[in-house]
Formats: sequence, C-alpha cells, structure tokens
Amino acid sequence: MQSNISLASQIGDYKFDNLLLNAAGIRCATTEELDKILDSDAGGCVTKSATPEPRKGNESPRMKATSMGCINSMGLPNHGLDYYLKFAEANQGKNGKQVILSIAGLSIDQNIEMLKKIQASSFAGLTELNLSCPNIAGKSQVGYDFEAVRDVLTSAFSFFKKPLGLKLPPYFDFNQFDGIAEVLNDFPVTYINVINSIGNGLVVDPETESVVIKPKGGFGGLGGDYVKPTALANVRALRQRLRPEISIIGTGGIKSGKDVFEHVLCGANLVQIGTAFGFDGTPIFERISKELTAIMEKKGYKTLDEFRGKLKTIE
Ligand code: SIN
Repeated sequence: MQSNISLASQIGDYKFDNLLLNAAGIRCATTEELDKILDSDAGGCVTKSATPEPRKGNESPRMKATSMGCINSMGLPNHGLDYYLKFAEANQGKNGKQVILSIAGLSIDQNIEMLKKIQASSFAGLTELNLSCPNIAGKSQVGYDFEAVRDVLTSAFSFFKKPLGLKLPPYFDFNQFDGIAEVLNDFPVTYINVINSIGNGLVVDPETESVVIKPKGGFGGLGGDYVKPTALANVRALRQRLRPEISIIGTGGIKSGKDVFEHVLCGANLVQIGTAFGFDGTPIFERISKELTAIMEKKGYKTLDEFRGKLKTIE
C-alpha cells in the first residue's frame, strides 16, 4: 500500500524526494559507485571530495572499522575534479535525483580554481565546498580559522553565482558556534553540512600495543557512534544562529531511522550517511526510509516540516 508519509525535502530551489544522501568519502569515488547510489532509495548522491588533479591519498592502512564506528585518514584519494564534474553534468536531475559535487582543494587558490571551473561548466546543481578534511598532514582544517573562511567566501562569491554549500568541521564551544555563524550569515551560502569526522582521534589496539592506521602516526577522523551527539549539537546550535535561508544537512552517527528523526528535530533539512553506509551499502537507504516512516506514522507526522527544528528543552 502506498504510504501517505513524505520524506521529501528541499535545499534552496533543489527538491529531494527523500532526505537521505550518502556522505562524501564513502563508496562514492567512482562513477559505478555513484550510479549505484542514484539507483537506490537515496534522494541523490554526493561525490567524493575532488581536488584539481587526481590523488592517491595517504598510505594504507588508512581506515579501520571499530565497534563504535571507524577511524580514517584517507587523505582525499580521488579521480580529480574533471572526472566528477563530467559525472555531475551528465547526471544532474536524472530520475529526479540531485548530484552534489563535493570539492576539497588543498589551498584557497585550489578551491577558487575549482569553483571557477564549475562556474564555467554546464553543471547547475549544488556544489559542496569541503573546508574540514582533517587528514592532510601539515594542513589545518580551514573551518576552524574563521578569518580564512571569510577570505575564501569573499573570493568565491565575487564570481561564483551557483548554489554553494559548505562542509564544516565539528565545533565544540559556544564561541565557535557564534563565530562561524557570524561569518556565514554575511554570505549567500545555500547550505552548510555539519559535521565532518571528529578530527585527530586515536584508536589503540591493546593486543598489538599499536595504533590502527598508518598516516599521521595513527591520528584520524572519527565517524559513527562516537560523533552523533556532537553532530546533533552542531545542527541544533547552527540552526539557532544562521539566517533561515541557509539550510542544514545533518551528518554524523546516522545508522537508523531514529537517528534521522533526531537530526531533523534538531533542524536538519537533509541528512548524509557515512560510516553506516560504508558498512551496509545502498540497501541502507531503503531500510532507514522504512524505519523513519514507521516512526512518523506512530507519531502522526506526515511531513518532515511538522517536526523539523522542534526539539524541546527542559524548562
Ligand atoms: C579523507 O579523504 O581523508 C576524508 C575526507 C574528509 O574528511 O573530508
């Protein structure tokens, strides 16, 4: 029987039949993987963050699953912007699905160079500028340097006229929530995506008395159960501070319909699934859609708008 519950959502002028997307980085580096996501129940796909040229990334082992999620230090292995831009141009809007083109330059100049190429292309979808990869040795996450964020946005919006989202690192202090919101509210940002992995965690194997990944002496980005409360806090705190025109994608710790429900309660317009998508593959989008629909049915909600951002506090 056809359900009368809708999981549809919107970012700027872009409509999604389903709020679930993959997170950049997991099972989305090749056109085959991206096609698989577009053929699934997901509302669209996000490409692996591209650099101007192809990159091999960091040395292996560079990702390790743990009982609570995973630690990774991939180092942006990708096929280069041209590869993903070609896919995005060809597939944008296919079967009513959106392609989000993720880019992560290793410098402001590289980001500007890629945005210029995207501006000049026929791609009319959403671009996601990743300012938060924690896994490049010697490079700090731009998202923690608010003046650098302001500089890159000032340069970008001087010529970039297409919709632009930002993938941000997790923030932990109210000064940080206030500081980044103050910068973002000055620019025509279409959406933010919070959070990237919690950077520079350390997983230790007591049997081998060793770290579990090779790059950066074992330090890497944490995803999965470790990060959900931090992700929810970032969605909530930034929803309370950003102009309402700036949408929010919630990413972090989603492995069930209940997790998505919590992200939407905190204010997420869409959500992205990383670690759990890595474990389960594309069937996760159908399973989580069913779980979320069941929760909404039980609570009497027919649309996401009815509960988005309506998290209660204790008086
Ligand atoms: C990586 O490739 O190292 C992960 C990408 C990211 O954290 O942005």
